Amino acid sequence: MTLLDGKKTSETIQQEIADEVADIKANGGKVPHLAAILVGNDGGSVTYVNNKVLACERIGFGSTLIRYEDTVTEEELLAKIKELNEDVLVDGFIVQLPLPKHIDTEKVLESIDPKKDVDGFHPTNVGRMVAGLPSYLPATPAGILQLLTRYEIETHGKHCVVVGRSNIVGSPMSILMAKEAYPGNATVTLCHRNTVNLGYFTRQADIIITAVGKPGLITPDMVKEGAVVIDVGTTRVPDATRKAGYRLRGDVDFDAVAPKCSFITPVPGGVGPLTIAMLMKNTLRAAKREVYG
Ligand code: GUN
Repeated sequence: MTLLDGKKTSETIQQEIADEVADIKANGGKVPHLAAILVGNDGGSVTYVNNKVLACERIGFGSTLIRYEDTVTEEELLAKIKELNEDVLVDGFIVQLPLPKHIDTEKVLESIDPKKDVDGFHPTNVGRMVAGLPSYLPATPAGILQLLTRYEIETHGKHCVVVGRSNIVGSPMSILMAKEAYPGNATVTLCHRNTVNLGYFTRQADIIITAVGKPGLITPDMVKEGAVVIDVGTTRVPDATRKAGYRLRGDVDFDAVAPKCSFITPVPGGVGPLTIAMLMKNTLRAAKREVYG
């Protein structure tokens, strides 16, 4: 059993990006600049956005953090997005989700210029991904592809079972794994909350990618000997022994499942750390005009 070390892989990718930024600077090119809009004070969102800004500093990108109270109006937010769309300093930007209920998330995402949509959430980028055109891939699926690639995991002709059909993980992952590409060329089954007998499907899987948010969902009886298991779940569960008062748990019963696997991601330290690296990669691609010219 090999642990898929997302932390180490993320550091490697971020170092590759930092080296490229140093070259860009040495040649007098445009320093990549990421802006982030954060609404409200949700603990998880604040941490994620702070980590994104810190990553920018570490690898030599410029960054701008724009914060609003959760009482911000949709109009104010849309006006700021328009400003960022037109700001030549800003190569890419993100609006951290979730947004408060009074704001129409779809409308906000659709107002972002697809050329600057480094989260890959705009329908134009989603559509281009499905059609096999150059696009910004959402960070989590892109990170999983990096793990598969860098650990040289065979995907051709394998049965990949994706659990969860969210717009940002399960759904794009299922499409990417079926593409005629590496990683890809897999036979894909997409399972979700209405799947009857989840174990019937996961037991047939050479590769399981689970992104549900239910700790302990995947038990050893649901996993074939030698399977590759990628766990995107990160649920905060109360833990009085931790300073934070909680710990992160994935969808997989790790201790029981790991001995059956050829490769498995830990939680934390698996897929999570890669998402920031992939956001940085998209921002670099935006600065280089790699996707839209
Ligand atoms: N909320 C959870 N994941 C993400 C992400 O990748 N991007 C944004 N903008 N919000 C998120």
